[in-house]
Amino acid sequence: MKMQHSELNLLNYVDGEWVGENLETFDVINPATQERVGTMPVGTKEHVLTAIEGAKKALEHWKELSAEERANYLEKFYQRVIERQEEIARILTLENGKPLKEAKGEVLYAASFIKWYAEEGKRVYGRTIPSKGPGQRIQVLKQPVGVVAAITPWNFPAAMITRKLAPALAAGCTFIVKPPKETPLTAAKLLECAQEAGIPQGVVNMTVAPNELFSETIQESKDVRKLTFTGSTEVGKLLMKQSADEMKNISLELGGQAPLIVFDDADVDTAVEGTIASKFRNAGQTCICANRLYVQSGIYDEFVSKLKDKIKELKVGNGLEEGVDIGPLINQKGYDKVVSHVKDAKEKGAEVVIGGDADRYEAPFYEPTLLLGAKDNMLCMTEETFGPVVPVQKVESDEEAVRLANDTPFGLAAYYFTENMNRGTKIGEALDYGIIGWNHGAPSAPQAPFGGMKQSGLGREGGAEGIEAFLETKYLSIGIKE
Ligand code: SIN
Repeated sequence: MKMQHSELNLLNYVDGEWVGENLETFDVINPATQERVGTMPVGTKEHVLTAIEGAKKALEHWKELSAEERANYLEKFYQRVIERQEEIARILTLENGKPLKEAKGEVLYAASFIKWYAEEGKRVYGRTIPSKGPGQRIQVLKQPVGVVAAITPWNFPAAMITRKLAPALAAGCTFIVKPPKETPLTAAKLLECAQEAGIPQGVVNMTVAPNELFSETIQESKDVRKLTFTGSTEVGKLLMKQSADEMKNISLELGGQAPLIVFDDADVDTAVEGTIASKFRNAGQTCICANRLYVQSGIYDEFVSKLKDKIKELKVGNGLEEGVDIGPLINQKGYDKVVSHVKDAKEKGAEVVIGGDADRYEAPFYEPTLLLGAKDNMLCMTEETFGPVVPVQKVESDEEAVRLANDTPFGLAAYYFTENMNRGTKIGEALDYGIIGWNHGAPSAPQAPFGGMKQSGLGREGGAEGIEAFLETKYLSIGIKE
């Protein structure tokens, strides 16, 4: 599975300069081959402080531009990402492991946020409220929150940056991103595109500083007014507590534990297709991917048999190889979690219908696995597995399916399949989730408000809500002489 490539030794981007040339570096590892893809300097406290200063200075000019002018910069940024999409997608596969066809899809998905917010920035309106008397006018203004810090995950190395960066810039904010150490090269390439688009010095910054150093420095700064994070619920809670001291505006996109329900009247082929699309995207390492399946008894045998046939067709391998559907998991830790979930399920009585053999491929590759007879007490039914494992539990009534689906501290995404309009409408209303796919396994889109309820986070990214997250609301109460 080894493939040749030349190493990419990239730098941090701070206040318009590529920095860190003579600093200690860390290796970026290809999860498929364990080879070094490239290196990146370890970001320092000085980088973070310089980025904050640069972003603060740049804010003065950037926020004063018209929405149209900012849109022109974003449009050029979008064009550069599109022109460089093949190169960026290949780097994304090298450092993340996902199949190249998915990486290409992700780069386009990432670009779509830039394009969409270039337009949406022009539609940030305030409003005029009728006052109680003739001598007063009330005007509501929307203004950028200021300097924004973002911490992004490895599972979508491009899209989780642009989903934050594009609305922030469109709103008139300036931006500092800390990508994860697993996938900093894709981030650096995106920032190169921003630089090539002529986005002024200090408006976008990137440093791959160690997690604690970055968050402490950001949290201590009075100049950083917003923190936006995608990652685990555990880290999200910590960041929320830390943000209290400076009362920062905070958005959190955290873990999921998505249920997928197949009702008796579902179109079986649509349900199978939707399950495959949702479950196996990025080898199951997606916050919104279906984690646990509930299938009604009347359709159970047919659905399971068709799902089994489809899973058998999935090809595991290096994401750069033609025809691969399932790449490696990101690292040994991710792999160990999947192994432990399958082991736990087997011990508690699940039947392994496909896969489940930890030795079939070398770690961190894990084979697509179908488990029947799943029960409420299994780890794969209560925690996010983040791997290509499908546990299925048989259910009888709609009430049982909804009760089991909602019985979790998480509330990011849920899916269900039914051809019945009345049933579907009611189920959609009853599920306590921020993102719901009805007869659909791929609900993400730049124009939709992505985000979760309960312990899956706070705030929304994407859509009109996604730009609102980077705006302050204030009002002017104006006294008028009659
Ligand atoms: C995520 O895993 O949080 C991102 C998935 C998506 O945007 O579709």
